[in-house]
Amino acid sequence: SGYQYILTEKKGRVGFVTLNRPKALNALSDGLINEINNAVHLYQDDKDIGSIVITGSEKAFAAGADIKEMEKVTLPEAYNRDMLAQWHDLTKIRKPIIAAVNGYALGGGCELAMMCDIIIAGDKAIFGQPEIKLGTIPGCGGTQRLVRAIGKSKAMELILTGNNLSAIDAERAGLVSRVVPAAELLSEATKLAEKIASHSQLTVAMAKEAVNESYELTLQEGIKFERRLFHSTFGTHDQKEGMNAFVEKRNPVWENK
Ligand code: HXC
Repeated sequence: SGYQYILTEKKGRVGFVTLNRPKALNALSDGLINEINNAVHLYQDDKDIGSIVITGSEKAFAAGADIKEMEKVTLPEAYNRDMLAQWHDLTKIRKPIIAAVNGYALGGGCELAMMCDIIIAGDKAIFGQPEIKLGTIPGCGGTQRLVRAIGKSKAMELILTGNNLSAIDAERAGLVSRVVPAAELLSEATKLAEKIASHSQLTVAMAKEAVNESYELTLQEGIKFERRLFHSTFGTHDQKEGMNAFVEKRNPVWENK
């Protein structure tokens, strides 16, 4: 595939990205982030792909941004190149992305997972925002997305102490949708991704967009946005097909249009 830090694989309608910098526990260098961005953009443009899974190794999803790469960066350098700006490219992808997390998801690793649409975790996964211990703070959405995911008090405690959150606690807090035995993580993530990819890609993209707007809009605006998108599904082939298939007691055939 020509990548240095990731592996990619298509299985049916699911596109996989596996972080593959084992010696650094998948520390997120700019090179690694650029490769992830490149891979997910190719999946976005691939009409055979309905959903994406991002995963790491058994020991680490990602142990954070690459500290060795960041250590010497000065403020003017960080500002001038708008350091970390390109990390957010992931959130522009319109197909659903599942983060399948085993092992450490710390700092930028936790933030990468939170930029995905669904997080599922192996039972030994560990989440945290330990930046405070390095004299810095989360820089890729941690102070914002973690609050929305688990509430202010828990998020504040994690970010101010640098303490970790176990998979079970992450599930209880609502950060992850479910916890599965570590050895089954990838097969469970694959099943979930396949199920999503079995639906109309067009409708799935609309549903994802509507859910994500809930982060940005007031309740009234969000409800209206949802209703307008709901209305627009009635202009699609796939809504007609889906409802007709129900009435005729058969499986729908999606055309993504
Ligand atoms: C660079 C890292 C790294 C990181 C681990 N490594 N995390 N390199 N950046 N974030 C490297 C180690 O230096 C070491 O390489 C190798 O990976 C194995 O790590 P060990 O520490 O030997 O493993 P272990 O003892 O099992 O401890 C695992 C660990 C620990 C608890 C996850 O590595 C750790 O605390 N890592 C840092 C976690 C962290 O602070 N993350 C936040 C980063 S700041 P060598 O070559 O030395 O053997 C951040 C800012 C976000 O993310 C800003 C927005 C993106």
